Amino acid sequence: MNVAFLLNGEAVTVKTAPTQTLLDWLREDRKLCGTKEGCNEGDCGACTVMVTDADGSVRALNACILFLPQLHGKAVRTVEGLCGQDGALHPVQDAMITHHGSQCGFCTPGFVMSMAAAHQNGQEDHDDQLAGNLCRCTGYAPIIRAAQAAAKEPVPAWLDDHARLLQTKVGENRPPYMPDTLSALADWYADNPDGTLIAGATDVGLWVTKQMRDLGPVVFLGGCDALQEIETTATHFHIGAAVRMTQLREAIGDDYPSYAELIRRYGAQQVRNAATLGGNIANGSPIGDNPPVLIALGATLHLRHRTQTRSMPIEDFFLSYGKQDRAPGELVTGVTIPRGQNNLRCYKLSKRLDQDISALCGAFNLIIKDGIIRDARIAFGGMAGIPKRAIAVESALIGQPWSEATLTQACKAFAADFTPLSDMRASAAYRLEAAQNMLRRYYADLNSLHTDILEVSA
Ligand SMILES: Cc1cc2nc3c(=O)[nH]c(=O)nc-3n(C[C@H](O)[C@H](O)[C@H](O)COP(=O)(O)OP(=O)(O)OC[C@H]3O[C@@H](n4cnc5c(N)ncnc54)[C@H](O)[C@@H]3O)c2cc1C
Ligand code: FES
Ligand code: FES
Repeated sequence: MNVAFLLNGEAVTVKTAPTQTLLDWLREDRKLCGTKEGCNEGDCGACTVMVTDADGSVRALNACILFLPQLHGKAVRTVEGLCGQDGALHPVQDAMITHHGSQCGFCTPGFVMSMAAAHQNGQEDHDDQLAGNLCRCTGYAPIIRAAQAAAKEPVPAWLDDHARLLQTKVGENRPPYMPDTLSALADWYADNPDGTLIAGATDVGLWVTKQMRDLGPVVFLGGCDALQEIETTATHFHIGAAVRMTQLREAIGDDYPSYAELIRRYGAQQVRNAATLGGNIANGSPIGDNPPVLIALGATLHLRHRTQTRSMPIEDFFLSYGKQDRAPGELVTGVTIPRGQNNLRCYKLSKRLDQDISALCGAFNLIIKDGIIRDARIAFGGMAGIPKRAIAVESALIGQPWSEATLTQACKAFAADFTPLSDMRASAAYRLEAAQNMLRRYYADLNSLHTDILEVSA
């Protein structure tokens, strides 16, 4: 297939296999070896590049799990294309030198590209922006000092890839592997039920780079605007399946700060810039971070097979480990999330704070009136083979006073709801106890007792 995009300001058209990664192409075909390969699975950020979309938005992405067709109609900057034509350094490069932000240098191009993308977007939450870039020798303090110093400098004029995209009209014609309407996409999938849909490729990328799988026919969701829509009404959010984590966080953040904080800890910036809500649901993972929250919020999932659409409470989608209520050739099109559930709280427990999959993830949503629990929706990831509602715990809470005595009783019901597994992330006993502790934390949170896990005190 042919893919057209801008590489460091120049229009290129590449004939490629659908699952060739940008990283392989840069290093092997173009001999642009500034972009490094570390983990080859989205974890270390050594391969970070800066991508500008047709609408002008700028993202740091991991080139190792980014397939070339995902770049059609976009602009890519690698570290080789960051300085001006006269060799003038980008402010982040300059600051990295001044602040001694590099030692062996292996991680440096990735850091510099993450920093340049954040600089372009005016994002000064440097810890978050750089959490997906690992450095084993310099230490982060000089790098953060460099990012802070660069933030004071303007974006260099030579980096206006959006203007170049508009001028060159690169990738204006949508290729067949990237349908631009929902009906064309749904028809393709109905005709190719064994084919693979590729959204952000933060799962599918690893099937190729780590499992060396041949995916057969593939189609990319990135061209279908209908799947990228976010609609906010007085009562609901409607989130298209191809909406990315960074966009979701922005959309729901005012209503649900606790959900937004959970998304802040989802992978790292490069992963959140790629991973979609639909992918996080459709993969059926028992440890995906969105499903427990959506179950606790009473969200509705929307599916489509050719012209046939259907909707269901999202908790009904997950049937058993690896099995979802989705027919061959049926797409996830979006999720409707009710607004105004002020008592929602979400807690993610993982071995590392950033860039880590949950050992368990709990979402709690109680309705309490006059000191009595009137309704409860509680769901967990990591406690069963599917994201699962805690029905017995909810029953032990509903109708009871909102008190510590009720909590103590309800905690006993966890064992009726869940028989968790022991694995490398946590033991079964730890999971069961931690889930109960999350309910206690929820009690503290709703009673305005401070439970900030980021605060460390001696
Ligand atoms: C470094 C790293 C860190 C991560 N951290 C987290 C984390 O903290 N929390 C977490 O929950 N996950 C995490 N993940 C997992 C991953 O990001 C998610 O599962 C992600 O949401 C998948 O979305 P995607 O758009 O990338 O899907 P893809 O990889 O494109 O697709 C995943 C699967 O879903 C299918 N699919 C995609 N869209 C649709 C659709 N609309 N309809 C039907 N099927 C569809 C695909 O065919 C495929 O089977 C991480 C992954 C990486 C690489
Ligand atoms: S090589 Fe580690 S994130 Fe790409
Ligand atoms: S400078 Fe050596 S890994 Fe960062």
